[in-house]
Amino acid sequence: MLAKLSSYALDGIVGYAVDVEVDINSGLPGYELVGLASTATKESKERVRSAIKNSGFLYPAKRIIVNLAPADTKKEGPFFDLAVAIGLLAATGQLENKLYKDFVFVGELSLDGKLRHVDGIMPLLICAMQEGKKKFVIPADNAREASYIDGIEVYALATLREVVEMLSGVQFEPVGLSGYQDARIQHGYDVDFADVKGQTVAKRALEIAVAGGHNALMIGPPGAGKTMLAKCVPTIMPDMTFEEAIEVTKVHSVAGILDNSIGIVTTRPFRTPHHTSTVPALVGGGMKAKPGEVSLANHGVLFLDEMPEYSRHALETLRQPLEDRKVTISRVMRTVEYPANFMLIASMNPCPCGNFGSKNQVCRCTPQQIHNYIGKLSGPLMDRIDLQIEVDNISYDEFRSPQQQETSAQIKQRVERVRALQRERFKGTSIMTNAEMGPREMNLYCKIDKDCERLLQKAFDKLSLSARGTTRILKVARTIADIEGCEDIKPAHIAEAIQYRGIDRKYY
Ligand SMILES: Nc1ncnc2c1ncn2[C@@H]1O[C@H](COP(=O)(O)OP(=O)(O)OP(=O)(O)O)[C@@H](O)[C@H]1O
Ligand SMILES: [Mg+2]
Repeated sequence: MLAKLSSYALDGIVGYAVDVEVDINSGLPGYELVGLASTATKESKERVRSAIKNSGFLYPAKRIIVNLAPADTKKEGPFFDLAVAIGLLAATGQLENKLYKDFVFVGELSLDGKLRHVDGIMPLLICAMQEGKKKFVIPADNAREASYIDGIEVYALATLREVVEMLSGVQFEPVGLSGYQDARIQHGYDVDFADVKGQTVAKRALEIAVAGGHNALMIGPPGAGKTMLAKCVPTIMPDMTFEEAIEVTKVHSVAGILDNSIGIVTTRPFRTPHHTSTVPALVGGGMKAKPGEVSLANHGVLFLDEMPEYSRHALETLRQPLEDRKVTISRVMRTVEYPANFMLIASMNPCPCGNFGSKNQVCRCTPQQIHNYIGKLSGPLMDRIDLQIEVDNISYDEFRSPQQQETSAQIKQRVERVRALQRERFKGTSIMTNAEMGPREMNLYCKIDKDCERLLQKAFDKLSLSARGTTRILKVARTIADIEGCEDIKPAHIAEAIQYRGIDRKYY
């Protein structure tokens, strides 16, 4: 007898339907899996057999053929175990009715018949829903993740037995809808901008960066507070909208780093990969084409502390996602695409001893050493950094000053206001921040008058700016104008934006 079931699989964060056909023939007992299954998928054979036996069902001593269609797509991952097991039970007449035809089955089986959590349920369900699927059976451990998707009926069950019971008419409660607001945890941070003394320019620049989604690099001597400032950035990042949270969760779900008890990411990512990170770890790839740090930082921050310590190759591979806001990973027979819409925040010393350019420290490096050190960051990479911030050591008076500094909460309020303005501005498009503007949006929102034009041209000549550099100055100026509450970009905004550019010239 032949049984046909629906399942689903993932390619990156894009789901696709897989039909699972199970046929039982007379003949020598055996099990054949056809349909371009990867090794991990092929191993389902043993799991399915043990799970069926250990759940108290009969495993047929016949010739079993399992077909995963479409045959031309490589099937990866353990998504199909459950569908194959149910298919086998149906094909051997162990299911009382054909209820199984209504459902999409996704789940890995353990040998004792338990349903095991699979990575990527959120993007999988969303894609399946968009393709018109309505009813699903998934592992119980994936329940929270599924509970944020409205418009589908999901049964999150613990064992193969429970699935069979449900298909035989026993009532199970479908997963109820969870509210995003309830899932959001109020974060306590152990740092605050109020603890950072002085550094007003750096704080201002970081506020601009976060408000408009711009990239920033802090450069300065050891102990000036660069790492401290960067660690404060999460405290002023705007809250995520539900749509953004879903986008972030999709990637984290596929990467297998989602907290199952919450099932959704509610705070903006702040990723801090170590400088020994490999290229696949940073941009994604490897055997399983998993998302890299740039994708895990989607809608959040990628923080590279001591930037020149990263391998040159790793830094250069960041250029593409920094420009395209997504990464494409090529695999055998296919490519996988992940979003990578992140803000880069980096810090570095200007030279090996760290003191070059400092007001109160002496640099011991030779010009060649300085050149080599700073040269690790290529011109094209520096060109993509909108705000280049000099962070020098603060004076003793500044350090010991009892003067109350502005708190992160106060700064965050401004950031939220400016982000709300941008959401309104770009309503109906996929753009969230000024940094993401394309040429069309720039024509609309970055109009400047003659005075601004003159300023910009002067900077263009003096700093030998590229076209990209110039556009980026305009975008930063737009954000500064937004912070100041100005509809039009004024010369002062352009001038401030220019100030944050061209630091590399000083050091190169
Ligand atoms: N502006 C500041 N206000 C208060 N404390 C500061 C300030 N700058 C530095 N500190 C203190 O110095 C410590 C070291 O600073 P931090 O690690 O941020 O320096 P850094 O610039 O990253 O240095 P390095 O280049 O060596 O990485 C901080 O943890 C903090 O205690
Ligand atoms: Mg540091």
